[in-house]
Amino acid sequence: MPPAMTALVVAAGSGFRAGGGVPKQYRDLAGIPVLARTVARFGGASEVIIVIGADQRDLFEERVAPHLDREALVVTGGADRADSVRAGLARASSPRVLIHDAVRPLVSDAVIAAVAEALDRGPAAAPAVPVVDALWRGGERIAEIVDRSALNRAQTPQGFHTDVIRKAHETHGNGALDDAAVAVAAGIPVEIVPGDDRNIKITRPGDFDLAARFLNAETRVPDIRLGNGFDVHRFGPGDHVTLCGVKVPHDRGLVGHSDADVGLHAVTDAIYGALARGDIGRHFPPDDPRWAGADSRGFLSHAAGLARDEGYTVSNVDLTLVCERPRIGPHAIEMTDTISRILGVDANRVSVKATTSERLGFTGRGEGIAAFATAALARP
Ligand code: CTP
Ligand code: MG
Repeated sequence: MPPAMTALVVAAGSGFRAGGGVPKQYRDLAGIPVLARTVARFGGASEVIIVIGADQRDLFEERVAPHLDREALVVTGGADRADSVRAGLARASSPRVLIHDAVRPLVSDAVIAAVAEALDRGPAAAPAVPVVDALWRGGERIAEIVDRSALNRAQTPQGFHTDVIRKAHETHGNGALDDAAVAVAAGIPVEIVPGDDRNIKITRPGDFDLAARFLNAETRVPDIRLGNGFDVHRFGPGDHVTLCGVKVPHDRGLVGHSDADVGLHAVTDAIYGALARGDIGRHFPPDDPRWAGADSRGFLSHAAGLARDEGYTVSNVDLTLVCERPRIGPHAIEMTDTISRILGVDANRVSVKATTSERLGFTGRGEGIAAFATAALARP
């Protein structure tokens, strides 16, 4: 078992630079307060200590406490960040401690693990990322070009053997930007481990948006779209009906401007619907002579093309035909194959089934055929 570890989350700042009325650590990031998101990242710690400002008790209870899924010791910090850290360290009961800014809610498991593991090798470790921009010293004019090759941008959590950092903080005054600085001042070697560019410290107003984007990239829900389609065609004179592109012998035909393929029309509309791109009537107006007697397979191809253009693939299609006659069962496999070929998907993603309506309604009286379809499209 790894040695016990305290997660010490400092959240007592006033968040002056971020603005927004409420200190940044209590503001929502994608619906959950920043501080609650941060604490949730330290699920592996044996204890959690949260340091809040003396006047932040109500904010904490109202906004953060309801979101915490584990017990946390809440203590009061001070005006300087080091005051807050010392208040937390005073209560830490584990031999090792990870001290983390409450406003770095995107810290990854990998960064936490890298710091924790480094504490097997030495008394202190901190994550950092290399500086990639050129660096200049100067105000209005460049005074000096700074060599960036050995420079790092510091992050948290910064990890320590608890007794070591406690002692370093006792002798160090205020004003340090972080705890690695306090350790270095006390002559303690601090190992640098890889940080993560997404482990940002929410500092300025625009950082909330940036953090939300990173979060979204982390938790991205696959883009899945559902559509439904419904169509009806009336029986008229004829010796066959065309259903799902298959010519089915019958003592009547279906009446329509096109080939009256009620099944393909429903599937086509389901795909247009999933894309929120209207319906067949919009793409192939029934008063346009070009579509007189048209093969409805062309309509479905068009819808499938629109889906492809938008980066979607058809995940599945389910179609129900409603009629007393003709019997669909003997043709269902051929219908399924036709639809799957047009859509360019495996046949096991297409379902064609049929039902009667128990002799009720227009389908029951044999006046026409109805079709219901559902289509699911997915985009990675
Ligand atoms: N912090 C703290 N106690 C303080 C000051 C800062 O616990 N007296 C915490 C902050 O809440 C934050 C972390 O230290 O989680 C990093 O500090 P910073 O980003 O500077 O936050 P603030 O001090 O709140 O912001 P600002 O400097 O813009 O006022
Ligand atoms: Mg500050």
